[in-house]
Amino acid sequence: MLIRTFSKFSLNFLSDVRVLTKSLVNGSSVYSFPQENVDKSTWTEFHIHRYLPEVEGQSKRFVQSYWVNTKQCGPMVLDALIKIKNEIDPTLTFRRSCREGICGSCSMHINGLNSLACISPLIPNEKMVIGPLVRMPIVKDLVVDMTNFYNQYKAIDPWLKRKQPKVPGSKEYYQSMEDRAKLDGLYECVLCACCSTMCPSYWWNQNVYLGPAILQQAYRWIIDSRDEFTDDRLKKLSGDFAVKKCYQIGTCTATCPKGLNPRDALKNLKELVHDYQERAASWQSA
Ligand code: SF4
Ligand code: SF4
Ligand code: FES
Repeated sequence: MLIRTFSKFSLNFLSDVRVLTKSLVNGSSVYSFPQENVDKSTWTEFHIHRYLPEVEGQSKRFVQSYWVNTKQCGPMVLDALIKIKNEIDPTLTFRRSCREGICGSCSMHINGLNSLACISPLIPNEKMVIGPLVRMPIVKDLVVDMTNFYNQYKAIDPWLKRKQPKVPGSKEYYQSMEDRAKLDGLYECVLCACCSTMCPSYWWNQNVYLGPAILQQAYRWIIDSRDEFTDDRLKKLSGDFAVKKCYQIGTCTATCPKGLNPRDALKNLKELVHDYQERAASWQSA
């Protein structure tokens, strides 16, 4: 019942001139709820890219403006989005869960970079422009379809693989502190896809190129001293597109909200793949 009410609201509100006004900003149609009495020293304007799949034709895509009193709101972009959804427009759709930068579900495009809304601070008195992750299929508003991304993750076998069975009675695979330290800066990835969806190579080759997030995870298992499928993993990445489509430009690293460095991980991974290819060629010529 609730869902039907929201759906009806979202279908009707574009034509409801008593509620919304339309203007043109940088060539985009911007729809605004009238908020004439806004004190702009304490309120921030949000321009949010919306997509309503249930609306016919061109009007399913538009930009909507909302004003939020940042004095009555938490400090992060996600706090403002939740306030908008609770108090202004229940049809606004986005993903979130942990509110701590851990689950990776609130990834979106914020003021020119991809980030996690729950750890992105609001900038007082500055307009916030928010959209879905770049060049991903949109389900609704800020929610994108992550199916391809998760299938790519599945394809790298993201778990410890062993050839030697565990000795009966033993519980753990031991690792030296030095080997464990090599995983720092890799294991912290929350798979938010911010880096992959800022990567131009991933934009153009999403069906064949795994992208920085997934390749960084592949690298994490390749260098794990406990894993015994290192060469098998490297062999899988030796195709034309798997790692070669990384040109080391680094927009992945520039956008990572967790401060990780996928560009460096991919640089190291490319070297390991190259080294494996040379070894494989020498086996064939021997
Ligand atoms: S460094 Fe590689 S993975 Fe990162 S954005 Fe550039 S091409 Fe993409
Ligand atoms: S490397 Fe950073 S941006 Fe990329 S998926 Fe992991 S946490 Fe997100
Ligand atoms: S809500 Fe979990 S990372 Fe933002």
